[in-house]
Amino acid sequence: MNKKLISPSILTADFSNLQAICELINQSEADWIHLDVMDGVFVPNISFGFPVIKAVKKHCKKPLDVHIMIIHPEKYVQRFAEAGAGILTFHYEAAEHPAEIIEQIHAAGMKAGITINPDIPVKVLEPFIEKVDMVLLMSVFAGYGGQKFIEETYQRINELQSIIQQKNPSCLLEVDGGINLENAPKLFAQGVDVLVVGNTVFNSNQPLEIIHQLKTIA
Ligand code: DX5
Ligand code: ZN
Repeated sequence: MNKKLISPSILTADFSNLQAICELINQSEADWIHLDVMDGVFVPNISFGFPVIKAVKKHCKKPLDVHIMIIHPEKYVQRFAEAGAGILTFHYEAAEHPAEIIEQIHAAGMKAGITINPDIPVKVLEPFIEKVDMVLLMSVFAGYGGQKFIEETYQRINELQSIIQQKNPSCLLEVDGGINLENAPKLFAQGVDVLVVGNTVFNSNQPLEIIHQLKTIA
């Protein structure tokens, strides 16, 4: 049975009051908080880095689900651990030696995730499934919040799930990008464990209610 966790991405929230964002997440039924780190090189956008993660850690009681869209992820693993990341997910495309990065993440005391963009075949992840705690399947191209969900993701989820079942059934499957109240039930029904939801939560007037609705999907 899939876990059905919700990890709100704060990328499109109002950063003028980070403490209020954290308090909202604390009050909500969200399971995790999703933090998108972008370097302007691996992706065309720049978001935020260690000081913001540390500030979130100070105020947010939920585990920090940190998604890094950066080149040379191996250089920064320890810094993310020190900043308070609970699970650290890096891009396969950005890693020269993914297996070594997974080891580094575990040695630093975090859970390890690996992710790919929508144009990368899911089979490239096969050698790493046994080693990771989570696979994140991007349902938009990494870089911006508020994009449209790519429909081919459903087929990719099926492919990935059969690999997970074979290699490491306890590995979580997270999907990120363009998730809303319409596609969320389909994704949970397909067996996805964690939904990252940005725009649908933070561009709403009732973020707590949206999180509640996502959490009560049967
Ligand atoms: C995109 C990020 C996502 C994104 C999710 O690069 O990884 O986490 O912010 O936001 P929405 O739900 O708005 O697509
Ligand atoms: Zn993300």
